[in-house]
Amino acid sequence: MLIALGVTGGIGAYKAVEVVRGLQKRGHDVVAVMTRSARRFVGEVTFEAITRRRVITSQFAPGANADIEHIALASDIGLLVVAPATANVIGKFANGIADDFLSSLYLATRAPVLIAPAMNTNMLEHPAVRANLQTLASRGVRFVDPGEGFLACGWIGKGRLAEPEEVVEAADRLVRPVGTLLGRRLLISAGPTYEDIDPVRYVGNRSSGRMGYAIAAEAARRGAEVVLVSGPTTLDAPAGVRIERVRSAAEMARAMSTHARTVDAIVMAAAVADYTPERPHDTKIAKRDAPMDLTLVRTPDILADLGRARGNAPLPILVGFAAETGDPRARAREKLRAKHLDLIVANDVSRPGAGFETNTNAAFLISPDDEVETPVQLKTELAATILDRLERLLAAHSARV
Ligand code: PMT
Repeated sequence: MLIALGVTGGIGAYKAVEVVRGLQKRGHDVVAVMTRSARRFVGEVTFEAITRRRVITSQFAPGANADIEHIALASDIGLLVVAPATANVIGKFANGIADDFLSSLYLATRAPVLIAPAMNTNMLEHPAVRANLQTLASRGVRFVDPGEGFLACGWIGKGRLAEPEEVVEAADRLVRPVGTLLGRRLLISAGPTYEDIDPVRYVGNRSSGRMGYAIAAEAARRGAEVVLVSGPTTLDAPAGVRIERVRSAAEMARAMSTHARTVDAIVMAAAVADYTPERPHDTKIAKRDAPMDLTLVRTPDILADLGRARGNAPLPILVGFAAETGDPRARAREKLRAKHLDLIVANDVSRPGAGFETNTNAAFLISPDDEVETPVQLKTELAATILDRLERLLAAHSARV
């Protein structure tokens, strides 16, 4: 596959040479696109020798406009990687500024985009940069998080370009042939449930749905037929996913059990309410001065019921989540056992950058005989890791029959 590697003006530009090598080792063809300031850090001849291609440095270089090169390249590439990406280029991408070859290529291409930011810690944490990163993430751009350590500016902190191998792995994963879940049917739940107290009030929780939607989107990208049962969220249905919107735990339970019979795997990422008002009022409860008592009763435990219904049958594979505050492992293992799950994704929702509402998450993936920790990463990336595990579970099942 042809991959465009954008190199911008940061000290990490020298590591981009290793990124080219790593991508080539995995069978990709690389064309380097350097910004003006990148060329102050590394010479274009280095990239030319390694890529064995002309390095693109300017929109207006002789020959670059015979076929409007940035448009031609935009449709030829399967992926645009930018490593290192400075605050400046991130700002340009986020705001649609196209004043050089790389920023024009970004706007013109429909290929996936992977960005490896690198800059001083304070710059990385500046609200302007954070907002630009959020904007790009919401448009589907993927990131390789910068590392921590000694920065070229003499500071110690976050901002160093990720190691070349991490960039290569993330890039390769994005362009790996899709279709690894072709022919599989997956049922995924996401979002909160709202338990009505009366027509205007409800008991709910902070789930945004992002985690479950990311899993549904990635499963569809891999070719699975996906039904997403979603509690109330503001998110659009991912491409290629059949969505069924529900409100309460009872509605979610009904939708899940209807589809469960015909699927190969179920991933329960929803934050289902454990309690619901015993008797929701038909009309708005009038405010009084006295305290108000609200009796809550247990909701159905959807996942435990699915585990019981499966019994000793091998399918569907059951993946649950455990949302805990503090180290989630012990409680997650109990839930794994009690609900008869094949895998549980345990997240500490009190940890910064993990759990509810954020675009990132960190988790332990726990199965009866294995435990793997994942770092804080985009929910889209964690989704891919969960589905890699699920694919292995499905493959093990197919090998047994
Ligand atoms: O939606 P986001 O903002 O992206 O946040 C993601 C998340 C934090 C919601 C997600 O990562 C997560 O942890 N989801 C599970 C939340 C939860 O309900 O955890 P729990 O430990 O209470 O439940 C354990 C498992 O049982 C879960 O798979 C849950 O879906 C399921 N359950 C719980 C209660 C219930 N009545 N029925 C269930 O099926």
